[in-house]
Amino acid sequence: MTRPVPKPVRAAVIGAGAIGTTVIGALRAGRLPGVEPVGFVNDRRTGDLGLPQISLAEAMERADVIVECAGQTVIAQSGPTILDHGVDLLVTSVGALCDPEVAAALDAAGPGRYLITSGAVGGLDILTAAAAQAPFDRVSVTTVKLPETLVQPWMDEAAADRLRRTAEPVEIFRGNAAEATRLFPRSLNVAATVGWGVGDIGLVEVRLLGDPEAALTRHVIEAEGPCGSYRFEIANLPSAQNPRTSGVVPHAVLRSLGVLVGQPRGVI
Ligand SMILES: NC(=O)c1ccc[n+]([C@@H]2O[C@H](COP(=O)([O-])OP(=O)(O)OC[C@H]3O[C@@H](n4cnc5c(N)ncnc54)[C@H](O)[C@@H]3O)[C@@H](O)[C@H]2O)c1
Repeated sequence: MTRPVPKPVRAAVIGAGAIGTTVIGALRAGRLPGVEPVGFVNDRRTGDLGLPQISLAEAMERADVIVECAGQTVIAQSGPTILDHGVDLLVTSVGALCDPEVAAALDAAGPGRYLITSGAVGGLDILTAAAAQAPFDRVSVTTVKLPETLVQPWMDEAAADRLRRTAEPVEIFRGNAAEATRLFPRSLNVAATVGWGVGDIGLVEVRLLGDPEAALTRHVIEAEGPCGSYRFEIANLPSAQNPRTSGVVPHAVLRSLGVLVGQPRGVI
């Protein structure tokens, strides 16, 4: 007996930057069977990406799922409206969900669902499974990135300059995941994602280091609880387009989208 061919799922992408451009290119090339790309939304005009540039309103009318690759403000400002339209939302800017008001607004919205891509991090499958058996006692994420990628608009010029010029690794932040993603909104999505994986963002202790020798972006994830003890070390090559983002992220987004639309491959 052959399986019936499901109706294609219509997808739009918000954000045509380092992550979004690769996602848009893969969708346009038909790399995700069962997904029909309808266009992308971007706050600036872009060059020709082979799909129509549309407004958010058009994306909500035309798509069954919107893939966010734009930034935390899009999730905070438009996430609930997208879900209320009955459109699913795949979230890449996971740090947005550390704001309890944003998370509550998304939880209250629907019938669209919001789901989170694993993004730059791995090991979430077993952390989620272990947390379902019994809550963790301790979870930490240590991230090491190139110092210049960690300069923030709220830093004064002297502090930003110290960071840009440091010849040695420096600890830039130590604290909880919510504070970490507020202060470093584009750099600590991993901590937020681990928080969602273990079901308690408040549990995640974050350490952020800037290392001028960090050719790869490193994340060490450690979790201890009644189910066991877990440690993952991930070293990703930064994206050539945006050194704040790891090159693997758009491929993780595409993998997540495949699962979301019911076309998983291999390991789920
Ligand atoms: N989950 C993860 O592991 C992970 C990893 C890396 C980056 N991220 C997050 O993904 C997001 C995108 O990363 P990137 O490296 O592609 O960034 P980028 O700056 O290269 O691209 C962002 C794009 O979104 C567009 N944009 C911004 N605000 C918009 C809005 N309101 N409406 C429409 N378009 C808008 C920008 O013009 C730009 O084209 C960031 O928020 C980043 O923090 C998540």
